[in-house]
Amino acid sequence: MDSNVKATNVVWHAHHVSRAERAAQKKQKPCVIWFTGLSGAGKSTIANALEGELFRLGFHSYLLDGDNIRHGLNKDLGFSDAERVENIRRIGEVAKLFADAGLIALTAFISPFRADRDLVRKIMPEGEFFEVYVHAPLDVCESRDPKGLYKKARAGQIKNFTGIDSPYEAPEHPDLTINTGELSIEQSVHTLLAFLKEKGKL
Ligand code: ADX
Repeated sequence: MDSNVKATNVVWHAHHVSRAERAAQKKQKPCVIWFTGLSGAGKSTIANALEGELFRLGFHSYLLDGDNIRHGLNKDLGFSDAERVENIRRIGEVAKLFADAGLIALTAFISPFRADRDLVRKIMPEGEFFEVYVHAPLDVCESRDPKGLYKKARAGQIKNFTGIDSPYEAPEHPDLTINTGELSIEQSVHTLLAFLKEKGKL
């Protein structure tokens, strides 16, 4: 039993419908596609484009996106290290539930800490977690600055901004790297689809 579980007298219930049955009904192989990278690197854009293509192809998926989740499930969390850890822990658990439900779960969070991403990999069944490093150099992300946040961070109006005064730990062994400075959105999606095919997911 997980010694960190605080609730006592809580018993895990086995469901009548199994995980495998849920996936089989959807005729697909569930997994979590975990996008990580700096703000402005292109995580949401690529995850959205990939999900659109998966939908068009008839797959069942769900995209969890940083800015949206922080309006609801995680609206109680800010950007301290501890809050980012909790943010990613919750998202990891939610993504796992979506995969249990038979879906292809996509997540687009900075997820700056290696240990947190590794924890999510550990709670997923073998071969069902793919870490995708969405890479663009900091100066490129900063020049894109789609939300004007780098400008504010440089001006000291936002504290603990990733890449400026809060660290980003790049993946050491990502399952896939997408260089958004070099690939178009279409090329990125094409690369991801080829990768998922190679892994037997499509
Ligand atoms: S994470 O670090 O905990 O994974 P998450 O992906 O949920 O971050 O949220 C990042 C988004 O929140 C950014 O894309 C940006 O729009 C916004 N944001 C606001 N403040 C910060 C900050 N201090 N650092 C990084 N992103 C921030």
